[in-house]
Amino acid sequence: MTVPLRAPEPIVVSVPLGSRAYDITIGRGLLANLGQRIKELRPGTRVAIVSDETVARLHLNAAEAALKAAGIDSARIVVSTGEGSKNYATFENVCEAIIAARVERNDLIVALGGGVIGDLAGFAAASVRRGLDFVQVPTTLLAQVDSSVGGKTGINSRQGKNLIGAFHQPVLVVADTALLDTLPKRDFRAGYAEVAKYGLLGDAKFFAWLEKNWQDVFAGGPAREHAIAVCCRGKAGIVARDERETGERALLNLGHTFGHALEAGCGFSDRLLHGEAVALGIALAFEFSLHRGLIAASEAARAATHLAAVGLPTHLKDIPGGVPGADALMDLIAQDKKVKRGTLIFILVRGIGQAFVENNVDAADVRAFLDRKLR
Ligand SMILES: NC(=O)c1ccc[n+]([C@@H]2O[C@H](COP(=O)([O-])OP(=O)(O)OC[C@H]3O[C@@H](n4cnc5c(N)ncnc54)[C@H](O)[C@@H]3O)[C@@H](O)[C@H]2O)c1
Ligand SMILES: [Zn+2]
Repeated sequence: MTVPLRAPEPIVVSVPLGSRAYDITIGRGLLANLGQRIKELRPGTRVAIVSDETVARLHLNAAEAALKAAGIDSARIVVSTGEGSKNYATFENVCEAIIAARVERNDLIVALGGGVIGDLAGFAAASVRRGLDFVQVPTTLLAQVDSSVGGKTGINSRQGKNLIGAFHQPVLVVADTALLDTLPKRDFRAGYAEVAKYGLLGDAKFFAWLEKNWQDVFAGGPAREHAIAVCCRGKAGIVARDERETGERALLNLGHTFGHALEAGCGFSDRLLHGEAVALGIALAFEFSLHRGLIAASEAARAATHLAAVGLPTHLKDIPGGVPGADALMDLIAQDKKVKRGTLIFILVRGIGQAFVENNVDAADVRAFLDRKLR
């Protein structure tokens, strides 16, 4: 895999899901053409844009102007910034605002924001009038490579994250990589954990490319577009083969069983962002695979070395304020949705780019491993 000198504008990745197939377009400055694209897709449509306060301040005017230039009227629905907006009260407000804006069956919802907005607006779109079509305009790296693709939408229950939701595919994803220029570095880096994840779970060549080119991905330009396109192609392929996660799609959870437990153990606070927890979770998944004799120590070291090189945490001691003990972590792992009838399900690796689903992991083995890591 070589570094493209100039990305063809835009890169288009198709998600082949039969009657629900859609395109992901990736490129710098694509927001300016949003109205034109929507007009081609759905002539005569009305639009409601859902965003959060931060993204609205930075990019909502440009989105509205792009729609207006194509003669499309839009209403704006702006919610508070942050994970807290994935709750019932905000979901209710968004649904009511969509109805009040007289958005009907032929119309579109546009989710302009990170994963929080994509999940919330997508679920509102799935629910109002038993399903409205929606367009994802992801504005974080995490959303461009992960949450905007694949159709998982939802909000959080008081009992756990993402427990209320629906599969609802967007009709179009427009990933404007220039929007990431305003993203705080820490959020960009956290999103990068998901980028590395695609290489580590199934694409060793891409991982080797990232080892050489990650600085250019951070800097913007064609390497960024290329990396996002590779991730979207990877996810699109997996989603097309297993839309409802009965098998292969679970591989996308590499690093997420340990990661979610750590995130929950930090109270889903700013102490540990989702992507940071995923980086740590990936490092632990590789070490746990080593502990089970599946890989060589050099492979686990290589994965962790790259994550650490970009500034992501890879050791439990990297978490500011410390982590809960092994008992608490085991309880959190057991509560995770990837647990079936008492045995733990883990995504483990046989090497870089060779993840697999292990359905039968003995809790005592995980506990022994964590005890050692926490020492
Ligand atoms: N549906 C899925 O398949 C899927 C997959 C992974 C994660 N998720 C969900 O995604 C959410 C996390 O997504 P996220 O990390 O994008 O969080 P987020 O949406 O909260 O965005 C992170 C922060 O960046 C700000 N922001 C967004 N775009 C910006 C921009 N261009 N410039 C400046 N600031 C910007 C936001 O206001 C927020 O403060 C979680 O709720 C998670 O459950 C869903
Ligand atoms: Zn994730």
